[in-house]
Amino acid sequence: MSVLTEKRIVLGVTGSIASYKAADLASKLTQLGAEVDVVLTAAAAQFITPLTFQSVTGRRAYVDADLWGNEGHVLHVRLGKEANLILVAPATANTLAKLAQGRADNLLTLAALTGTAPWVLAPAMDGDMYASPATQANLAQLAERGAHILGPQSGHLASGMTGVGRMVEPAEITAQVRYLLTRGGALAGRRVLVTAGGTQEAIDPVRAITNRSSGKQGYALAQAALDAGAEVTLVSGPTALAAPTGTNLRLVRSAEEMLAEVLEQAKDADALLMAAAVADFRPKASAAQKIKRAGGTPQIELVANPDILAAVTKTRSRKLKAIIGFAAESQDLLQNAQKKLKAKQVDMIVANDISASDAGFEVDTNQVVLVSKQGVQELPSMGKDEVARVVVERLGKFFY
Ligand code: C5P
Repeated sequence: MSVLTEKRIVLGVTGSIASYKAADLASKLTQLGAEVDVVLTAAAAQFITPLTFQSVTGRRAYVDADLWGNEGHVLHVRLGKEANLILVAPATANTLAKLAQGRADNLLTLAALTGTAPWVLAPAMDGDMYASPATQANLAQLAERGAHILGPQSGHLASGMTGVGRMVEPAEITAQVRYLLTRGGALAGRRVLVTAGGTQEAIDPVRAITNRSSGKQGYALAQAALDAGAEVTLVSGPTALAAPTGTNLRLVRSAEEMLAEVLEQAKDADALLMAAAVADFRPKASAAQKIKRAGGTPQIELVANPDILAAVTKTRSRKLKAIIGFAAESQDLLQNAQKKLKAKQVDMIVANDISASDAGFEVDTNQVVLVSKQGVQELPSMGKDEVARVVVERLGKFFY
């Protein structure tokens, strides 16, 4: 099962040079498991052929001629009614105007008017066309009626000019569609708090003590929880990663900052997934100025950081149904995980052996053992996103 399996998307492609990017978009959505029915307008078919889309979606792509073919009188109704989402990317000023007015003079606008699926529109046009009062009024009206308008972005335009009018990139449109189509999942309405990444403990204004955590497992957990329909707050230490679309991201640096943010967010959370690699120690004092080599080798005194999980369990609200801790171990994995489950009073420990080359910090795979009162579940080595999906599935069981 992929995240968009059984989701039907009508992808309307209209006449813009950005239509070549729609092929990439159709491919990305298909790779997430969606069934993508592409409908090209006559102008789009001047830029790109139905065959291109059929090749990436594995499904028929439609043009206006199909409206008058064998399936003619019902094709638009079937396409519109069966769709979970009507996505128009790129959306030209002309098609936006038609959609705003409810005109139905081609297969795409006919299909859009049938059914009740939400509309996602990604405008692409020349900057002046976008700025024109007519286009702005059409977009405002469409947004007021509940359409999701993505972009346009500013940058290089086909005219050679720079301005606002570029279609939002396919990856970003895909992420938005992924978010919108997963709101009804098993964790819908649940607030899931995820922590990720390592913390940085300042030595002076430029130096810090940190660890090799990439944040990948925590960010994958945030995505998996979003995919299950949850509202996700991600408290993250510094990482190179982009937060999944739809995340409420709270960036922190030190363990103390993370503690304050987690305690605040936990008041309202239904679950906590504590995947962050929190530094156990910090310099007792951070120097106000950069420490100079001329001053000789500094002695850095360390003090213990607060245990964030312990602080949360101490003030745990009744709403917080599941607290899941993570344990990176280099020996006696199972015994240590079981000890931690009790000592930290959490509902589950996700333990991994960081001495293995395909598990733990920096790599994309992980091999974990899930330890809870219910027992021990050993998972094979798998991608971090796959691990995240299994953990989130287990999380769902805490709500029954
Ligand atoms: O004891 P250990 O650090 O191995 O436990 C790991 C678990 O505890 C992780 O879930 C980690 O996020 C959490 N932790 C914490 N506060 C700390 C250190 C670790 O909440 N100061």
